[in-house]
Amino acid sequence: MDETALFKLTHGLYVLGTVDGDRPVGSVVDAVMQAANKPLVIALSCHNRSYTKECIERSRRFSLSVLSKDVDPFVVANFGFQSSRDIDKWDNVDYFIDNGLPYLKNGLARLSAIVTQVIAYESNTLFLAQVENCDNLEEGEPLTYNNYRDYFKDEVIKSFNEYKQRKEKEKSKMSDEGKKWVCTVCEYVYDGDVPFEELPDDWACPVCGVGKDMFELR
Ligand SMILES: Cc1cc2nc3c(=O)[nH]c(=O)nc-3n(C[C@H](O)[C@H](O)[C@H](O)COP(=O)(O)O)c2cc1C
Repeated sequence: MDETALFKLTHGLYVLGTVDGDRPVGSVVDAVMQAANKPLVIALSCHNRSYTKECIERSRRFSLSVLSKDVDPFVVANFGFQSSRDIDKWDNVDYFIDNGLPYLKNGLARLSAIVTQVIAYESNTLFLAQVENCDNLEEGEPLTYNNYRDYFKDEVIKSFNEYKQRKEKEKSKMSDEGKKWVCTVCEYVYDGDVPFEELPDDWACPVCGVGKDMFELR
């Protein structure tokens, strides 16, 4: 059996949303399909470690925002590479709440659905859900899972690495806040207007004359 054959089943790519109490949560999904016309039913498969899945089991409702080919790769990274358990993903994107569920502002279309049946597999949970509302939002072509695999994934990974670096920088800046550069030889505390990092390499301690490398942040 060659399981890569399953990659030839094509899907779109969506941001799935629901709520954890009042807090909007969500993830990227591709495993969505229309299952019936009457009533209008869709099927959604979530892997069992997904926090969004846990929240859907509680709220029994979810939203879908259809992603366009022009979507910012960071949207996929944000919703697909980290968990709502640890972070408020919706705060990182433009979104709106309608009837209690979150949607991307620049999605192509949006749907909301009420869960009617749940089937639990070892790896995934399948939700069958009746569409309660749906609308087109913007013109454009939907991004497919194949697009993601073919060319979009690299951009998504790049944007996630940039985001992580920004976060790390902010974190180290915050932990340095309120700290001062102190001379380890004479305890002189630098408090000049020019940031210490921007002082010239040949700058010396005005008290004992040692170089910048003898200062530490305390
Ligand atoms: C391209 C792509 C497609 C994905 N498709 C699905 C999917 O169909 N179902 C699913 O549960 N997770 C899917 N994921 C994984 C989740 O988006 C990912 O595990 C996410 O971090 C879960 O976040 P959560 O813990 O906040 O729910 C996909 C991820 C990517 C990048």
